[in-house]
Amino acid sequence: MDIKQVDEFAKEIIFKAGQRIRDAFSYDIEIETKSNANDLVTNIDRETELFFIEKIKEFNPTHRILGEEGMGEKVESLEGVVWIIDPIDGTMNFVKQHRHFMISIGIYVDGVGKLGYIFDVMREDLFNAIAGVGAWYNDSPLRKLQPLKIEEAVIGINANWVTPNKRINHEKIIELVRTVRGTRSYGSAAMEIAFVISGKLDAYISMRLAPWDIGGGVVIAKEVGAVATNFNGKVFDFLTADTFLIANPAIHQLILEKYIEEKK
Ligand code: IPD
Ligand code: CA
Ligand code: CA
Ligand code: CA
Repeated sequence: MDIKQVDEFAKEIIFKAGQRIRDAFSYDIEIETKSNANDLVTNIDRETELFFIEKIKEFNPTHRILGEEGMGEKVESLEGVVWIIDPIDGTMNFVKQHRHFMISIGIYVDGVGKLGYIFDVMREDLFNAIAGVGAWYNDSPLRKLQPLKIEEAVIGINANWVTPNKRINHEKIIELVRTVRGTRSYGSAAMEIAFVISGKLDAYISMRLAPWDIGGGVVIAKEVGAVATNFNGKVFDFLTADTFLIANPAIHQLILEKYIEEKK
């Protein structure tokens, strides 16, 4: 695979898809629900994923696409070249706020992340990386993350996990919230990951994410030294949903050990 050529092509279709999504605000957006009343999907999520599939298949028919909306073939292994795509990450923000949603793409070769992209569609801000080469924010190199103390950290977390819940010991999360400098919740996993990568957040915690939420982000994370694992400290499993913690390397282990206790 010619990495430079694929990188240029990926950027080209991401910018085009972004334009199409911005244009969609002039038309009717059809909103439906999926697994529950708060799990939204629109015709634009589906059309954007189809747009990517068509363009990628024209570019190279052997590349496969693992997308949230399942518009392509079934992908059950990461053999060969696989594009992991979330056409709109933050659909609720897309519907409600008309901003704060991202296109997220990771390109994997035999399961190894080679290229990563997170694109803020309304701001036209691109975070991207080429594995082993570097990471950029709108073409400016992103720096390695600098060490900091937990008391100085600003972390991304959904308020649900601070209330009693089935998945984790919320008392420990309350202790974390009291310890850190501040918390934020943006409603787009890819955006929160992009913020950790660029030092705007120092950690982001989620009880359950899917491969397409993080497929782009983890490739970029590696280049800036951000650590991304599941709650067992292991590499995220790209074929199923998993727990997820991405953090500045100075506080990743501490958060896992001291503040996260999963209920079994
Ligand atoms: C969702 C967003 C949200 C996260 C959910 C994801 P979607 O993605 O990233 O922030 O909390 O777990 O499913 O459905 O808007 O692509
Ligand atoms: Ca969704
Ligand atoms: Ca998503
Ligand atoms: Ca999505």
